[in-house]
Amino acid sequence: MHTQLEQVTHIDNVRLGEDEKSVVIIDQTQLPNRTVYLTLRTAEEMYDAIKLLRVRGAPAIGICAAYSIYALARQWGLADYPAFAERFHERKEYLNSSRPTAVNLSWALARMESVVSAGAGKPVAEVLDLLGAECRAIHEEDIAMCRAISEYGLSLIKDGDGVLTHCNAGPLATSRYGTALGPLFLGRERGMNFRVFSDETRPLLQGARLTSYELQRAGIDVTLICDNMASIVMKNGWVQACFVGCDRVAANGDAANKIGTSGVAILARHYGIPFYVLGPTSTIDLSCPDGDHIPIELREPDEIREMWYAEPVALRSVKCYNPAFDVTDHTLISGIVTEKGICRAPYTESLAALFDGKK
Ligand code: MRU
Repeated sequence: MHTQLEQVTHIDNVRLGEDEKSVVIIDQTQLPNRTVYLTLRTAEEMYDAIKLLRVRGAPAIGICAAYSIYALARQWGLADYPAFAERFHERKEYLNSSRPTAVNLSWALARMESVVSAGAGKPVAEVLDLLGAECRAIHEEDIAMCRAISEYGLSLIKDGDGVLTHCNAGPLATSRYGTALGPLFLGRERGMNFRVFSDETRPLLQGARLTSYELQRAGIDVTLICDNMASIVMKNGWVQACFVGCDRVAANGDAANKIGTSGVAILARHYGIPFYVLGPTSTIDLSCPDGDHIPIELREPDEIREMWYAEPVALRSVKCYNPAFDVTDHTLISGIVTEKGICRAPYTESLAALFDGKK
C-alpha cells in the first residue's frame, strides 16, 4: 500500500508494455482532470506522443524513446543483421526528430544504437535481448540519478523555506522523485515542510496542470501563481531558493529549460535569491559549447492563441512567436545540481570534471 507521497513518486509514467512490443505512458495532456494510460504501438504514435507532449520532460522523453525503439525492433521479425541495423537507424532518426531541445532524447537513442553497432556479428535475437536490457538500464539509472539529485538539492534548503519553481520537473517528467521537485518530496518524506510557488508556465501550463497537481497530492504546501507574479512573490520575501529543471546544459553552464526560466533567474538575481538548475548528467551536453548552440524548439501559434480557451483570445491571424525553451545564462546560476554533486562556477571546469575519464 503506497503512502500519499508514494502515490506521486512511484507512478509508472512510462513503461514497456507486457508484450515488449509497445510502450505505455500516462497521457500528460489530460492531467490533472483525467488519468489516462495510452499504449503506443506504431512509430508514428510514439513520435506524436513526444511531439504533442503526451509524454514530456527531458528524462522521460529519453526513456520513452529508448523503450519505443526497442518495442519497434521487437515487432520487425528481422533475422538479417544488416537489414535490422538499417531499419533501426532509420526509425531512430525518425524518433529523434520529434523534439530538438532536450538532449536526453538523442542521448538515449544513441545509447540504444551503440548496442546495435556493438552487436554486429551476433544473432539479431541476442541483440534484441541486449537492447531490452539497455532501455531498462536507462530507466533504472534515471531513478537512481533523481534520488541522488534530490539528496544534493535538499542540502541547499532548510525546513520552512519557500521555493519557486517553473514548468514541471517532477515524477511525471522523470522517474520517481524528479529533479527540481525531488528535494521537496524527499524533504517531505523526512517530515520537513516547504512553501512552494509554482509558476503556471505559459503557454502549455505545465506548472498549473502538473507541478501543482503533483505537489498538492503529495501533501506539500503549493501556491499556483501566474508567471508574471514571480517578482512580487520574491519581493515579499517568500522565496529562499529557485529550483528548476533543464533540457540541455552546455559546456559553459548555460542551461536551456522551459520558456520563462531565464526571466525567473534574472528576477532571482535582482532580489538576491539563489537560483539552482537540477538535472542528471544525461542532460549535460559537453559537445555544445554554450547556449547559443542549443537548438530551441518553435511550436504552433495556436498554443498561444486558443489552446486553453472556449474561443480564441486573439485574432486567428495574429502573428505569434512561440519558443518552447530559453537559455539561462550561466552567470545567473548559483549551482547545477547533478547526481554526482553540485557544480559551481566556473562551470566549464566543474561540468567537465563530472565526465573525467568517461567522455
Ligand atoms: O516542453 P516540456 O514540458 O517537455 O519542457 C520540460 C521542461 O522544460 C523541464 O523543466 C525539463 O525537461 C526538465 S524535466 C526534469
